[in-house]
Amino acid sequence: MESKLNEIKEKAIEEISKLDDISSLEDFRVRYLGKKGELTLILREMGKLTKEERPIIGNLANQVRSFIEGLIKEKGNYLNEKELKERLEEEAIDVTMPSKRNKRGNKHPLTKTIDEIKEIFIGMGYEVAQGPEIETNYYNFDALNIPRNHPARDTQDTFYINDDFVLRTATSPVQIRIMENKKPPIKIISPGKVYRADEVDATHSPIFHQVEGLVVDKNVTMGDLIGTIEVFAKKLFGENTKIRLRPHYFPFTEPSAEFDVSCWNCGGTGCKTCKDEGFIEILGAGMVHPNVLKICGIDPNEYSGFAFGLGVERTTMGRYNIDDIRLFYENDIRFLEQF
Ligand code: PHE
Repeated sequence: MESKLNEIKEKAIEEISKLDDISSLEDFRVRYLGKKGELTLILREMGKLTKEERPIIGNLANQVRSFIEGLIKEKGNYLNEKELKERLEEEAIDVTMPSKRNKRGNKHPLTKTIDEIKEIFIGMGYEVAQGPEIETNYYNFDALNIPRNHPARDTQDTFYINDDFVLRTATSPVQIRIMENKKPPIKIISPGKVYRADEVDATHSPIFHQVEGLVVDKNVTMGDLIGTIEVFAKKLFGENTKIRLRPHYFPFTEPSAEFDVSCWNCGGTGCKTCKDEGFIEILGAGMVHPNVLKICGIDPNEYSGFAFGLGVERTTMGRYNIDDIRLFYENDIRFLEQF
């Protein structure tokens, strides 16, 4: 029996050295130490031994048993560690690998122009106001001193929702909404979409953008308007920009003027961009009509003001040499990503 025990011990040493995963180690344990394991079977035969032999063999059997248990524990530790190491290697993240990049978009050129215009006027102490794109006849026409028979009121030119509501034809109704709610001093700009029943072509779109400006205070003069537009034009188009006024008519300003800036392409000598004019029109403006002030509850004897309305599309087309207004609305990435 003694040699049998030693044999088992040798066999166990050899077998365990060949195992390389945790589940086969468990099989091994059952095979040697389990209820029907080799060692257990041997111990069952102890009864056949003599009284003298029994403690010696018993002792030896216990030694072999704890020896094998030690082997299993050691191998278990080794295999657990090995498997952990393998798993960590397998699941390792390569932190130097480049990430999947989301392509970053950029501002639409119209948004870019509007943002720059806002920056310039905010720098001069203006606040940015907003008004609804669906307007009442009153705010869009009546309160702006636009008479019943004015062509702008024609269904040919304006999108009527019903008799009372229109898609605003300019940002000017915001002037009224501001003056109704705020007493002077007033100094605002208001960018937004406006709507006119125009046929689409290279220079016309039924939806376009304007930036309205309004200043009302004591002693505001035409000189303030001209100075303001001059500073603005130099900031937006460059320090060498000159401005020019042409008399014009708007029902809600008196006197009224259109403002041109020296051509951003040729600087004023004449070229294709300015159609040899040397100047390009950028906005309509004037002194707020006394009737309009009165309608809004502001006394024209005490206060005066100026207003202007700038076309964002035309300005942007000029700044970036864009020759077709439709490019702004087609959402062609190849066009948009250039700005
Ligand atoms: N509302 C005018 C237009 O759309 C522009 C304008 C605004 C003119 C303010 C004078 C004062 O053409």
